[in-house]
Amino acid sequence: MYPMIKIEGVRHAYKTPSGPLPVLDGLELSLNEGGFVAVVGPSGCGKSTLTKLVSGLMKPDEGKVMLHGEVVTGPRNTVGMAFQNPVMLEWRTILQNVMLPLEIVPNKLTKAEREDRARHLLALVGLTGFEDKRPSELSGGMRQRASLCRALVHKPEVLILDEPFGALDAFTREDLWQTMHKVKENEPFTGILITHDLREAIFLADQVIVLSGRPARTQYVLDVPDTGPRDLDHLYTPEAAEMLAVLRHQIEIAQGRASAEEVAE
Ligand SMILES: Nc1ncnc2c1ncn2[C@@H]1O[C@H](COP(=O)(O)OP(=O)(O)O)[C@@H](O)[C@H]1O
Ligand SMILES: [Mg+2]
Repeated sequence: MYPMIKIEGVRHAYKTPSGPLPVLDGLELSLNEGGFVAVVGPSGCGKSTLTKLVSGLMKPDEGKVMLHGEVVTGPRNTVGMAFQNPVMLEWRTILQNVMLPLEIVPNKLTKAEREDRARHLLALVGLTGFEDKRPSELSGGMRQRASLCRALVHKPEVLILDEPFGALDAFTREDLWQTMHKVKENEPFTGILITHDLREAIFLADQVIVLSGRPARTQYVLDVPDTGPRDLDHLYTPEAAEMLAVLRHQIEIAQGRASAEEVAE
């Protein structure tokens, strides 16, 4: 059995007017089907670049990105994405926004089935009653919930979340973490979560990867033990404190590498 996502020896540099900017150098990742990995690392180290490689929007200079053992060669519609600032179409209702991928990605669903699917997801994230609202009528947290539904509506093999909760206040964010667990139970997916929040990483993911400063390599991999259904109290246990301390230390090392390079530049 191939891992769902496998990244091997990936190197990549952006071409810029002042010469190549090496962004990734020695990126490794392996994730089995149904796994959920959180990726943390200093700002600008190449996390969003990693998501573009997995979704096939970019090809690496060197190394391989594979889904199901197949090298990714172009954009894939079997990937769903959600970002920090969800782009919603204001002239469409929330329901119509969530249904959008089903109008783009080939599928055999009838109009009624598409609508049922979208309504089912909106109910799952607690947005029943908001189907006919416009995006601007929703709070930031609600828009993020709708964005999650839109990313999942076509049952993607891989769900990529690039700092989706970064702009939300702490309580809204914690509500969304719990919603994520509920969603994962009901709509199984293989996920990559980019985040700056270490508590979020250990609460949601079963593996946390720390990237070094730019150019990023996989610096550290933490396996989060499966302790059954997670609740927020779990974040205050000694085991969680220990994991957070390890990750914080790794981030300090990663930032050290970044600042050492900035001095050298
Ligand atoms: N298309 C691009 N062309 C040139 N440089 C880019 C491009 N996209 C990103 N970068 C640069 O590459 C580095 C990594 O970017 P990114 O992957 O977005 O980092 P992160 O998501 O970890 O903050 C940053 O320094 C960014 O400015
Ligand atoms: Mg980014």
